[in-house]
Amino acid sequence: MKSLRVLLFRRLSIGVACALLLMATLLVVGCDNSSSGSSSDNDSGDDDDGQSDISIALKEVDDCGFPIVPIPEGCNDCHKTPPDTARHPENRRCYRCHGYVVGPDMQFVQAELHNNGKVEVAVGCSSCHGWDQGVAPPQNLHGLCGDDKPGVGSHAAMRRSPISAHRVNCSNCHLVPTGTWEPGHIDGDGKAEVQFKNLATLHDAQATWDGAKCSNVYCHGSTLEGGTATEPVWGDNSGKYSACGACHRITDPSGNADADCHSCHATSVDAQRNILRRGVHMNGVIDMATPEKGDAI
Ligand code: HEC
Ligand code: HEC
Ligand code: HEC
Ligand code: HEC
Ligand code: HEC
Ligand code: HEC
Repeated sequence: MKSLRVLLFRRLSIGVACALLLMATLLVVGCDNSSSGSSSDNDSGDDDDGQSDISIALKEVDDCGFPIVPIPEGCNDCHKTPPDTARHPENRRCYRCHGYVVGPDMQFVQAELHNNGKVEVAVGCSSCHGWDQGVAPPQNLHGLCGDDKPGVGSHAAMRRSPISAHRVNCSNCHLVPTGTWEPGHIDGDGKAEVQFKNLATLHDAQATWDGAKCSNVYCHGSTLEGGTATEPVWGDNSGKYSACGACHRITDPSGNADADCHSCHATSVDAQRNILRRGVHMNGVIDMATPEKGDAI
């Protein structure tokens, strides 16, 4: 620790000296060499005339749309990059969670915060399994994006359905922690637990997940008549399980497929059978037009 402080102090002194030198004589080259790591031209990002290795690498983007930056030499000397522990996310974008210390280009932003005996970390829920990060596909626990990646599956399809009434919350399928280190959340096996609740289990629907598909889910019509695809396979986002008729009959009670659904279910569908706004379809009750209530207003 002592020697580290000395080292840091020396680095700082060199930094100050360089800054003075820079101001006085503009000896740019000399300064760049001695203050390696703390130089901060990372604002400019990836512009066209990149000549160094880093700017070339910044042009390559991973499947989440983030730049791929090689890990600088020597970073694995004291800890793995990233650390190889059960609690640590297997995610190479250090800056997403240690942004005070390391920038997107893997250079130190505030070198004095590194190796100082304290882990600087700032994570939000979406740091480790990001859904709202940048580009559309969600990021899985390994920092990978794309519906074909393990754990990504149908999350985006379920959460971002173009039909707003069909967007479902995490709590239908998981216990949702309020804090990162809450017991039962990160339990070391690295696998998410699926536990159905709320809409998924309404009207005594015995929803189950067998590791590949879901069965007896209320939303997918387990308590309704008809339906051609009521056991959705996780990750099959072809539209098969969200098509009209997948979850229930598309007829009136007498079996007439040409009936005007809107005339009796006016709050759920329009005259063209388009699903109306959020909450009125797949909300747990069979919604009927209620002229008496309407008249009373
Ligand atoms: C998605 C968030 C996230 C990313 C990305 C991330 N870390 Fe971490 N890191 C954490 C969290 C959270 C902790 C604290 C873990 C704890 O308290 O057990 C941590 C702790 C650490 C520690 C302390 C040792 C340890 O195992 O707790 C080191 C070293 C570290 N990270 C290095 C890195 C490096 C290097 C990278 C990039 C290659 C990186 N981290 C990327 C979230 C992240
Ligand atoms: C001399 C040993 C050593 C080397 C070499 C080293 N680290 Fe670390 N690093 C640590 C220690 C110890 C921690 C634990 C947190 C602390 O003390 O700040 C750490 C923590 C981190 C963290 C977590 C944020 C924090 O609290 O600092 C990141 C990110 C990180 N290192 C990145 C890197 C990168 C990138 C390199 C290579 C350029 C690197 N480390 C090389 C010792 C080292
Ligand atoms: C319709 C049900 C459903 C909803 C809604 C849902 N999940 Fe999941 N989730 C699953 C299933 C099923 C898996 C397991 C996938 C597997 O084992 O491959 C999973 C896996 C995960 C994983 C593990 C990812 C990995 O890399 O292995 C995380 C983290 C997760 N979900 C978080 C969430 C969060 C946060 C939300 C809300 C924003 C959410 N889920 C909403 C069904 C759902
Ligand atoms: C440091 C990384 C990290 C952060 C931050 C984080 N999670 Fe998770 N999350 C995980 C891991 C790892 C899993 C897989 C579960 C396991 O390991 O048992 C998971 C799983 C989940 C699941 C699936 C259910 C389960 O427990 O298995 C939900 C839902 C979830 N997280 C929500 C959240 C919410 C909400 C927050 C913010 C309060 C959050 N997570 C913050 C790492 C993280
Ligand atoms: C004449 C009025 C009327 C029309 C037109 C009508 N429905 Fe219904 N619908 C009802 C009634 C009444 C119920 C509740 C009956 C019951 O509890 O079985 C119902 C129930 C339903 C249910 C729940 C079925 C179940 O298994 O519980 C669905 C789904 C449905 N209708 C869809 C449609 C669709 C799609 C159309 C258009 C093709 C349509 N309805 C046209 C009167 C109508
Ligand atoms: C993912 C499964 C699913 C799909 C796909 C689906 N529905 Fe439904 N639908 C339900 C459920 C569940 C109900 C039972 C009532 C409720 O919970 O709101 C329902 C009920 C209805 C009703 C009765 C009125 C109401 O809202 O209660 C109508 C009408 C209806 N659906 C029309 C359609 C039409 C038209 C389509 C295609 C554009 C469609 N549904 C696609 C699950 C689905």
